[in-house]
Amino acid sequence: MTRKDSDDEDTQQDTTETQESSSILASDEYVDIKDLPGVGSAVASKLKGAGYVDVISLATANPQVVSEVCEIGEPTARKIIAEAREAAKMNFLSGLEFEDKRKSVQRISTGSQTFDILLGGGVESQSITECYGEYGSGKSQIAFQLAINVQLPKEKGGLEGHAIWIDTEGTFRPSRIEQLAIAKGLDPKEALQNIKIGRAYSSDHQILLVDKIPELINKDSKIKLIVVDSMMALFRAEYVGRGTLADRQQKINVILHNLQRIADRFNVAVYITNQVMARPDVLFGDPTVAVGGHIIGHVATYRIYLRKGKKGTRVAKLVDSPSLPEGEVTFQITSEGISDVEEEGKRK
Ligand code: GTP
Ligand code: MG
Repeated sequence: MTRKDSDDEDTQQDTTETQESSSILASDEYVDIKDLPGVGSAVASKLKGAGYVDVISLATANPQVVSEVCEIGEPTARKIIAEAREAAKMNFLSGLEFEDKRKSVQRISTGSQTFDILLGGGVESQSITECYGEYGSGKSQIAFQLAINVQLPKEKGGLEGHAIWIDTEGTFRPSRIEQLAIAKGLDPKEALQNIKIGRAYSSDHQILLVDKIPELINKDSKIKLIVVDSMMALFRAEYVGRGTLADRQQKINVILHNLQRIADRFNVAVYITNQVMARPDVLFGDPTVAVGGHIIGHVATYRIYLRKGKKGTRVAKLVDSPSLPEGEVTFQITSEGISDVEEEGKRK
């Protein structure tokens, strides 16, 4: 059994799988589907609810399905799809253009050189990087560190940028930001000022906050990092039982595709955290798996499994990446933040 089809809770009724990432079909203009001629906000929200989150997914949709989902006639559905095609222009990027786009990828250091190397140089813009692991494994600590490091100058592993932080668990700690800022020689109050925090109280609220991001970036072009800590907590709490799983997966799909669009369009890095759940059926190896694993696995570009190591260290394992080999590195979390583990001989 492979990792991707082993997550039985989350593979059940996963009807949204066909809405694959459309990042290479990037069009220049960001047109919201509700702004298409013939699409009002009611139809737009039905479309979004069904996973048609942007003009490109709508442009490639089946008229019959759109007609059913939106409870509109098929001719109207065809017209809407045609408008979406026009808006998206269906521009495929040539290999060369794609290469150019890749060249604009920027990276944020994690604070640990070995961890950065594992990721091909740090957490990447235009991508979603997911860290999953048990409580206390360091998922949020990495987020804190990235929110500081993004503010550093380029030669220090940053982008002289700002961050947006969507907090779904109430675990954002200004004091930790200040502490990490001081450790990096930044002004702690300024560092806090450069992070916009949105506290999400429900999964629908989380969706709304993600929808707001393009507006925030248009106001502050220095935003280079989006954190969602954690991606699944609210969904997990709200959608109990299998009956509602398809609905849950669709909403997660909507958020993830929105995040990927934002990453692409604004050349920002997206870092999301995720919990693990126990899998009693696994007899050998690690009996844990990321929550919502199947669906996130399709969208997240980099997936990192975190676990506690010896002597308070942390082990990061790259489990999924388009071009990098799987591998494992060790780092540490101290009061000053994420760093490489000091070599034995040098340890005080
Ligand atoms: P959940 O959100 O509970 O699922 O866990 P998480 O993976 O987000 O854990 P988090 O990133 O919050 O890591 C917490 C751990 O980081 C603590 O148990 C400590 O080991 C470590 N940590 C946090 N702050 C400090 C600090 O100031 N000094 C040191 N030495 N370690 C710290
Ligand atoms: Mg956490």
